[in-house]
Amino acid sequence: MPETSPLPDDAALTAESRPRDGQRFSPSAEFRASAVASADLYAEAAADRLEFWADQSRSLLHWHRPFTEVLDWSKPPFARWFADGELNVAYNCLDRHVLAGNGDRIALIWEGEPGDVRRISYAELTAEVKRAANLLTSLGIGQGDRVAIYLPMIPEAIVAMLAVARIGATHSVIFGGFSAESLRSRIDDAAAKLVITADGGWRKGRISPLKPAVDAALAGEPTTVEKVLVVRRAWPDDQELEWTAGRDLWWHDEIALMDADHVAKSFDAENPLFILYTSGTTGKPKGILHTSGGYLTHTAFTHRSVFDLHPESDVYWCTADIGWITGHSYVVYGPLANGATQLIYEGTPDTPHGGRWWELIQKHAVSILYTAPTAIRSFMKSGREIPQSFDLSSLRLLGSVGEPINPEAWLWYREVIGGGTPIVDTWWQTETGGIMISALPGVTETKPGAAQVPIPGISVAVLTDKGKKVGKGESGLLAVTQPWPGMLRGIWGDPDRFVETYWSKFAKVENGPLYFAGDGARRDEDGDIWLLGRVDDVMNVSGHRLSTAEIESALVAHPWVAEAAVVGANDETTGQAVVAFVIIRSRHSDAAAEPGAADQLRSHVASTIGPIARPRQVFLVSELPKTRSGKIMRRLLRDVAEGRAVGDTTTLADATVMQAIGDKLADKA
Ligand code: WTA
Repeated sequence: MPETSPLPDDAALTAESRPRDGQRFSPSAEFRASAVASADLYAEAAADRLEFWADQSRSLLHWHRPFTEVLDWSKPPFARWFADGELNVAYNCLDRHVLAGNGDRIALIWEGEPGDVRRISYAELTAEVKRAANLLTSLGIGQGDRVAIYLPMIPEAIVAMLAVARIGATHSVIFGGFSAESLRSRIDDAAAKLVITADGGWRKGRISPLKPAVDAALAGEPTTVEKVLVVRRAWPDDQELEWTAGRDLWWHDEIALMDADHVAKSFDAENPLFILYTSGTTGKPKGILHTSGGYLTHTAFTHRSVFDLHPESDVYWCTADIGWITGHSYVVYGPLANGATQLIYEGTPDTPHGGRWWELIQKHAVSILYTAPTAIRSFMKSGREIPQSFDLSSLRLLGSVGEPINPEAWLWYREVIGGGTPIVDTWWQTETGGIMISALPGVTETKPGAAQVPIPGISVAVLTDKGKKVGKGESGLLAVTQPWPGMLRGIWGDPDRFVETYWSKFAKVENGPLYFAGDGARRDEDGDIWLLGRVDDVMNVSGHRLSTAEIESALVAHPWVAEAAVVGANDETTGQAVVAFVIIRSRHSDAAAEPGAADQLRSHVASTIGPIARPRQVFLVSELPKTRSGKIMRRLLRDVAEGRAVGDTTTLADATVMQAIGDKLADKA
């Protein structure tokens, strides 16, 4: 049987903070008095949704050329927001704060894993991005080009993104934990001309190299990549690095030659800002495309109102890596558009000790913390003594994102980390660009475990499979019923897949097409929304999206493997965990019978896709449960993986298969 991780110690919660039915928390009078958001926002958005977004956009952003049209939805599902306006995204995140007299305000407090600290003001960040923009231009990059960014969490990652945005080009950030193969397929799909990387970064007390993966990715078949810019982060100057003359350039050498003057040109509101690859239900990741004016409006508005940002006094910390959408929207674009001061940390939470995050909060007086339930659950497991030995009194608001947060974790987070601060549980996706469902602090009475209400200007519904609204107390599929400014504009190079994946399920319903999110949801008796997890073959492991099909194709690419089926099994800490069932080719049965064979297959997945995709378990089985039409019945495999009695097997082509799998696993136990 699969080993399950121990339950969080129930004693971790005090008697008052155990979940109870109908439990709610009202905002304190003090919080309400100085809150950024107010209930008026809902009324304004309800009165005129488009005018509401137009107002937000005008008040939060600087438009070089003001827009006259808010939304063009004449060719659904292809939306255009603020289409006749022009702006520069980087100017909005940088220059205008300096021009407004806030150049000395700290934009980034960066701490490396070894403890090195850099404090970078808005004026300094602006100057650095200007130099980098000049560098990109000198390398022949301009509007219409794609730049791949494969960097650790260092300030240069943000500088690189903003420099690409400043010259109207498009970035594609690839998480540093992805393998060379994953990197190559993303570079190819986007036809990137330039890669920006580093020698390596610090993780878990060691240098984790990055440049070798870029070298491996670019070896072999010719690519569209002309140059590779390399930031020196990890090794000292005299460290030898594999170097391809004529292609590879040191970032610091090149930047030093550049002028810190650069005039930000304006670009169309719909100019592509970035492509970010995410897992779907097929083996091929989708390049989610976001554009400029609508995206920046949505991220700036939500960052300010959901996180109650007071830029002159708050220190905000979102723990996401820039390789994910949360890092794009709530480390880079939302916070910088709002002139926030934020902490950025390079390393892992447990290096060099389990209290590292709390130490950072204490040291830098963080007031707003935004993180994922997985992290909270793993801190719960290590016990409240660790956070309690630090001074966390600077915290005044906590956020959660990436997966459903169980009420126990929500309550522990509030009590042990926040000392009673409000929590916002924010539901959204790579595709939505920004937060869609969340409480507003100071306004909403919160319920542990529920994301609750769409933010002002956003319309969602919970629908039956046929597109009818479910009643109170019922579950169904989550849909977004009106276009929104931060919405994805397409899948890079694949408009048909865009229409098919998101807009075909509810195409024929009233006022359709509606956006199908791929998540299940329940409406409670008050009409509040509870998220129930994915309804498709996408898994959510530690808040990272992984596709079953992608891992299956990595497994069958291994010479031993004839067939593979992957399921996401419930996991106490990571939400879901990857569990694979594999049939070995008969000619390799001897090799696969050796001890450690399953581990070899786990490592194979990690090196093909990246360590985040490494299965928790690989079971070697002789058959897989299939229907008469040959479809794998994952539901039954999930039962096995979660250690439950196997459910209804009547539609199996061969009813003895599950017995055989059970016997095989029992042998191993
Ligand atoms: C899940 C991350 C429950 C959901 C921003 C969604 C959540 C997927 C929540 C998107 C939440 C995200 N409660 N589930 N607060 N936030 N999800 O694209 O299944 O990496 O579809 O974007 O994460 O993951 P993605």
